[in-house]
Amino acid sequence: MKSRYESAKNVFIDSVDLEDYIELESSQAAYRQLEHSIGKPLKMILLFGRPGTGKSILLNRLQNKLEHQREIHYFDTPAVNEKEFFQKLFKVLTKKSLPQNTEVNFSALVNYCKKLRGKREIIIILDEAQMYGAEMMEKIRLLSDSRAVKFIVSLHKTDDEDLIAKEHFQSRIWEVVELKNASFQDQSSYIHKKLLKKNLFEIANSIKVRDLKLIHKFTRGNFRECNKMMYTIFEICEYYDKNEPTKITYERIPVRIIEMAALKLGYINV
Ligand SMILES: Nc1ncnc2c1ncn2[C@@H]1O[C@H](COP(=O)(O)OP(=O)(O)O)[C@@H](O)[C@H]1O
Ligand SMILES: [Mg+2]
Repeated sequence: MKSRYESAKNVFIDSVDLEDYIELESSQAAYRQLEHSIGKPLKMILLFGRPGTGKSILLNRLQNKLEHQREIHYFDTPAVNEKEFFQKLFKVLTKKSLPQNTEVNFSALVNYCKKLRGKREIIIILDEAQMYGAEMMEKIRLLSDSRAVKFIVSLHKTDDEDLIAKEHFQSRIWEVVELKNASFQDQSSYIHKKLLKKNLFEIANSIKVRDLKLIHKFTRGNFRECNKMMYTIFEICEYYDKNEPTKITYERIPVRIIEMAALKLGYINV
């Protein structure tokens, strides 16, 4: 028989699906900031945060919400090369496709954008922008100088390098919006709401404040880590449910299982 922990486990498979978007305090605040920045005469907006803080889902949400009012496009991962990137951009700007294997003439593209000034305002969201090189960023900046194209640039913040300190990300007219790891409150609502959305009421109720505190402690409020942790917890529960059902009840998750998950994921060492 299928364990109901299986459904709970699958709720936490990491994905960026707008259907699953949850209005949390931090994501709402960042959303409002982004929306506000878009309204200002800025050329570049920077969304900054560690991997797993919800940047991609937030940008998808923004695109989805605004696409009926604005010209807004989301570029998920950087194109394999510059040629491909400018082809994609050309298509968005001119609403025409280039014949295969034709290269975009960059200065012609800049001139084209200059002519659009005051007529159209196109918002381009660049996710994973830490992967664009200095030369590309310089070209992106030149395009944004036309003021017909506005870029929202999303960057991963990592421990070992401070990306905004890099020259090509400096001296831009930035508005910086930062997404931080979730607070205890936000992470707890995230976990509960994700489960409730799939009608897993009993399982949602079985996760108590004490458990949520432990989970927040181990994952430090990072959504991606939280997904991994929840997935692993329910995977272990599923195992007991199928093989040793006397060791588990639907009323609460044994702390031991949370600790086993933390051990498996390397949050604690033996
Ligand atoms: N507000 C939110 N509502 C629903 N899911 C979220 C929210 N914020 C983050 N997530 C989830 O957390 C995980 C990491 O988010 P993601 O946008 O991929 O982060 P990043 O792009 O910063 O690495 C994804 O599974 C995403 O669906
Ligand atoms: Mg992302």
